[in-house]
Amino acid sequence: MLKTNQWKQRVLEKYEQQQISGKPCYILGIETSCDETSAAVIRDGVEICSNVISSQVEIHKRFGGVVPEVASRQHVEGITVILQEALDKAEITLDDVSAIAVTYGPGLVGALLVGVSAAKSIAYAKGIPLIGVHHIAGHIYANRLVKEMEFPLISLVVSGGHTELVYMKEHGSYEILGQTRDDAAGEAYDKVARSLSLPYPGGPHIDRLAHEGKASIPFPRSWLEPGSYDFSFSGLKSAVLNTLHNAAQRGEELSPADVAASFQASVIEVLVEKTFRAVEQYGVKQVLLAGGVAANRGLRTELTNRSEKEGIDLVIPPLSLCTDNAAMIAAAGYIQYLRGDFAELDLNAIPGLPLS
Ligand code: KG4
Ligand code: ZN
Repeated sequence: MLKTNQWKQRVLEKYEQQQISGKPCYILGIETSCDETSAAVIRDGVEICSNVISSQVEIHKRFGGVVPEVASRQHVEGITVILQEALDKAEITLDDVSAIAVTYGPGLVGALLVGVSAAKSIAYAKGIPLIGVHHIAGHIYANRLVKEMEFPLISLVVSGGHTELVYMKEHGSYEILGQTRDDAAGEAYDKVARSLSLPYPGGPHIDRLAHEGKASIPFPRSWLEPGSYDFSFSGLKSAVLNTLHNAAQRGEELSPADVAASFQASVIEVLVEKTFRAVEQYGVKQVLLAGGVAANRGLRTELTNRSEKEGIDLVIPPLSLCTDNAAMIAAAGYIQYLRGDFAELDLNAIPGLPLS
């Protein structure tokens, strides 16, 4: 059996060989932080050779949210098949892989561990670099699969677990300008959807309904203190619940489409306004949208309109790269690969891993 220092030696040799060989660099990415089991192959940092995603949404739906233990078991069952499929679709074998990049946090610990263990096993067996990737860095780097990044930039990260405004002055540098103080944007979407009896995950359903209704209910906008880039969505969520309750008690029927449209208008106004205040204050060259809520049509439209008005370059990933996927993890991993930023074999899952 290879000792750890022998493995490290092999990794460095392979890394050096790769750099002088002129051969394409294939990063195998793995993502298992929540309820998607995904593996992907990216060539030379930006070309997607494969991006296989197995969603567990149908399984968790009947519980109204992700059940961590069920998620871990599903990852265990799926990971090897999905890895093989990603390699097959990319028409390569493990022998062609230059490095393996894996999400090691934040996320559900049992779910993360499945990906981390698989990645460590492959890195060890093949003597290739192991790269630990932050899940949110992955979401941000989904944009590099669309267009080259231009620094400094601001990324609005909106997912089921995160709402953050991130300033990047260069690759791999993340400064959090503001973040949610309570619910994440996606979480608020999912909770409001539930109160409207829509299925999990509710974001896409609210988005669809919002386009059928009018933003006629004046829900609050949570601006917080002047100058703050933080967000808060729990007040808005409570306002929606109270409005629905009060209407029910009075025997009135509220149009779910109007509720969805009014809720969405409040979320989007705050997200877009704070993003562009930061754009102005920090004089950035580019705005990136990232995370599952980046799939929201209303948000995409508003950001596009505002960017055109302000003359700023906006990058939005295609829908398939907005929600959790391994291509984004491999894309972020490639930047770490270039810097030689490798993990050791004792890499562990860190559920609350900070970004900066
Ligand atoms: O990034 P993601 O796949 O997982 C996390 O890392 O959290 O994001 C999932 C979240 C869910 O809350 C889901 O409701 C939301 O993204 N989402 C949307 C839309 N599509 C997905 N929210 C609003 N509008 C959408 N179209
Ligand atoms: Zn995510």
